[in-house]
Order: sequence, then C-alpha cells, then structure tokens
Amino acid sequence: MNLKTKIISIPLGSRHVKLKVVSNLDELLVDVADADAIPFWAELWPASLALARWLTRTRNLQGLKVLELGAGLGLAGIAAALQGARVTQTDYVDKAMEMAGENARLNGLEEVIQIVDDWREFQMEEEFEIILGSDILYEPNLHPYLTEIFNRNLRPGGQIILADPGRLYGRQLIGELTNLGWRLETGEEKVVYDNKNYLIDIYTLTRGEKNEI
Ligand SMILES: C[S@@+](CC[C@H](N)C(=O)[O-])C[C@H]1O[C@@H](n2cnc3c(N)ncnc32)[C@H](O)[C@@H]1O
Repeated sequence: MNLKTKIISIPLGSRHVKLKVVSNLDELLVDVADADAIPFWAELWPASLALARWLTRTRNLQGLKVLELGAGLGLAGIAAALQGARVTQTDYVDKAMEMAGENARLNGLEEVIQIVDDWREFQMEEEFEIILGSDILYEPNLHPYLTEIFNRNLRPGGQIILADPGRLYGRQLIGELTNLGWRLETGEEKVVYDNKNYLIDIYTLTRGEKNEI
C-alpha cells in the first residue's frame, strides 16, 4: 500500500491536536466489491470531530477506563485521553492502529493502547466504564456483534457514547437497543469540516442501573 500522509492541526477546546492523516485516499480504493477492503479507517469522519469536541466540552473522564471501537485514526480516543481517561483503541485494520498510536504519541499521550480486534470475533474480555464509537453504525450486518460487545465489555453503571451523522442504520440500531431496555439520551454537535457543515447525533446509552458514573 503506497500510503501518503500529512499532519493536520485540529482545534479542540483550548488546544490543538496534531493528527497524521492519509492524503491519497482515492489511491487506496482498490476493491470496492469487498466491503472489508474499503479503507474507511483512513478517512477522518466528521463524527469523530464531533465526538472529540463533545467529550472535550462536556465530560470529565479523569481516571475512567475507556474503550474506543472502530477508532480509525483515533481522534475521539485522543480527546478522551486528553480529558484524563485511560484509553484503549481498537480497529480491525492494523494500519489504522499503527497510525492511531502515532497520533496519540504526536500529542504526548504515551499511555493510550491500540489493539487490532474484529467485532465479529472480538477477543477482548476486559470491562470499561465508557465505550466510544464515531460513525461505526453504518453496516447493519455488524449490529449484532456491536450489541454483544456493548453487553459484554461495558462495566455495570457504564455508558456507551456514539456519534453518528444521522445514518438510517444508526437510528435503527439505537431504536433496537432502546427496545432491549437501554436508556437513551440524545445530543447534537455541529461541526464544520472541509468547509461543510455537519450536524452529528451524540447518543449516550446506559443500562439503567444504579450508581451510574
Ligand atoms: C466510518 S469509519 C470511522 C472511523 C473513525 N471512528 C472516525 O470517525 O473517523 C469506521 C471504522 O470502523 C472500523 N470497522 C469496520 N468494521 C469493523 C469490524 N468488523 N471490526 C472492527 N472495526 C471495524 C473501520 O476500520 C473504520 O476504522
């Protein structure tokens, strides 16, 4: 893979986050017939910017254990780590986790962990206080696996925080989870990215137990 990269600077709260991003995305698109070969990981999606901004603005994550699913280049997890969380980032693409690691270190975050793991055969057994995901709900065939991870890897009292750009399948999964008894709070975050305006839904889900964080 002939990957070309550049470093961009993203304003986040009172600081700027440096992020190594892919600058030749079109050249990576080799086999669109194979969904697993589409390099979704290599793009910085507006939802990750929205989640990073929302976490920075609204949450104190000091000391909390956070799992990021489908981290791609890792911006949301970096924002959580800058808010004091102990972050583990996962994705099923090795190169994504390599770049997310570089991005964490570019921002002085040596402790952020990256693990390659596929939702369809998720190996991680650890529990987390927060599970994050930005733009990870787009493929309905993957919803049962995500639901299983939410059930297994979220500590009692924990929260799932998902940013989604209003995708039909995103709304569908959120509806299914609320039918299964998850409690939902919905917020919105406006972002401008590449000179375009986006309104991103921020879904916070809890199991409705006592002693929530
Ligand atoms: C639309 S991208 C979002 C990337 C990043 N969260 C963002 O918002 O910029 C979806 C991400 O989910 C990852 N992903 C897709 N299917 C996956 C699976 N089965 N297991 C783990 N990660 C997966 C992709 O590699 C990609 O990084």
